[in-house]
Amino acid sequence: MEAVRSALRREGYIADHSLAVAVFLTLRLERPLFLEGEPGVGKTEVAKVIAAAVGRPLVRLQCYEGIDRESALYEWDFPRQMLHIRLAEAAGMPGGGQGETEKVWRERLEGELFSRRFLLRRPLLAAVDSQGPAPVLLIDEVDRSDEEFEAFLLELLGEFQVTIPEIGTLRAEEKPVVILTSNRTREIHDALKRRCLYHWIDYPDFSKELEILRLKVPGVPRELAIRICQFVQRLRREPLYKRPGVAETIHWAEALSALGARSLDPKVVEETLGCLVKYRDDVEVLTAVREDRPYFADLLGEIEAMPG
Ligand SMILES: Nc1ncnc2c1ncn2[C@@H]1O[C@H](COP(=O)(O)OP(=O)(O)O)[C@@H](O)[C@H]1O
Ligand SMILES: [Mg+2]
Repeated sequence: MEAVRSALRREGYIADHSLAVAVFLTLRLERPLFLEGEPGVGKTEVAKVIAAAVGRPLVRLQCYEGIDRESALYEWDFPRQMLHIRLAEAAGMPGGGQGETEKVWRERLEGELFSRRFLLRRPLLAAVDSQGPAPVLLIDEVDRSDEEFEAFLLELLGEFQVTIPEIGTLRAEEKPVVILTSNRTREIHDALKRRCLYHWIDYPDFSKELEILRLKVPGVPRELAIRICQFVQRLRREPLYKRPGVAETIHWAEALSALGARSLDPKVVEETLGCLVKYRDDVEVLTAVREDRPYFADLLGEIEAMPG
């Protein structure tokens, strides 16, 4: 577990013990890992750093509303097939049609059309039928796809094989490492979860967030980094529509750094608030004036009272 943790760290990822255990078990038991959590807490990043740490390619399937098996698995390259037909027709039958009968020629042409040459390998096929070492397959944001697609994923994860009627059944010789993520905009079916190891990634606590920030934005002075993390942690306790994730903390620190800020004051916070909150309603909550001061100034006052 410690080896996993330090391997992830070497790739720039701070994992707590429970995540390191989950990753270790995924690798050892060859079971998919299902990561759930709010946006920006580092789910997608886990898959990327695992791939880097174990030296395998990353194959990413980004899910979206309306994603179907064709776009996830494979499609035939229709324009190139058409071109192939045109060229074959223009060239005519070999030997002016004397060697082959037209029927045989047509069948051969059709066989060529539905061969690997004209197969567009989408991420899931690329993961099952990988030419090199088995990849890390990231199935990102499954909650965006619909239930039908989920059922199809369940089937695929069970067998790791794909049947293409024109070619045959392709099977993964070595199972890919599979990481699924969900932002939990809807619940994922039990059946799919049951096949996986489940891990919830929470917002980091103060010390973990500070460690991430020091690692990701090393140019920020330590005292400022502490204030940034205190402020973001405090902000997450506000009733916001979208609370800032780690990604927002990092962006904010980069922005403050670019502006040459040495500490947090109401002016610089106001100027950079857009790095932290991305919804107008949330901006309004935080900039609402109370006793002549915007509300976030009170929050700033609160953290300034904390030990640095
Ligand atoms: N534990 C962590 N260690 C290092 N970086 C992290 C960590 N958690 C989040 N990040 C950073 O936060 C950003 C957002 O992470 P991401 O994986 O895209 O979030 P999610 O997929 O959960 O929405 C990335 O740039 C990532 O580097
Ligand atoms: Mg993500």
